[in-house]
Amino acid sequence: MSLIDLIDLEPLGDDRGQLFSVEANQNIPFDIKRVYYMFGMESDVPRGFHAHKELQQVAICTKGSCKLVMDDGTSKEEVFIDKPNTGIVIDKLIWHEMHDFSEDCILMVIASDHYEEDDYIRNYDEFLNFVGNT
Ligand code: TYD
Repeated sequence: MSLIDLIDLEPLGDDRGQLFSVEANQNIPFDIKRVYYMFGMESDVPRGFHAHKELQQVAICTKGSCKLVMDDGTSKEEVFIDKPNTGIVIDKLIWHEMHDFSEDCILMVIASDHYEEDDYIRNYDEFLNFVGNT
């Protein structure tokens, strides 16, 4: 099964500009408790390098582009994201990394829960252990 689960957002824009909407339990497959976004990243400074025990997320590259690495402890896949109309599901227990940010990249992430450091697994060996692949 592919680790890349993409969500196509319906375009709602018109000749005044583009518009996309994300809604809990509609096009986003969970209750939304938090949205965060990042920009001003350096192309050669990757981010992420963690998995979550419970948190589910959807990432949308609202501007620019970046590469996401998704890893379930058994297999690893990469996806290049550069479309504001495409969400990528980052499920729980997926080790994920973000690389190769374009200078103008704005990455928005929609999350199923509040920020909780205890939900993070930031060590790769601990992640493999957690998913039972050591
Ligand atoms: P982190 O998740 O490590 O960033 P990334 O995975 O993109 O490299 O978060 C960076 C810091 O920001 C860390 O100290 C935790 C804090 N943080 C919050 O306080 N709230 C949030 O919603 C997020 C995502 C991070």
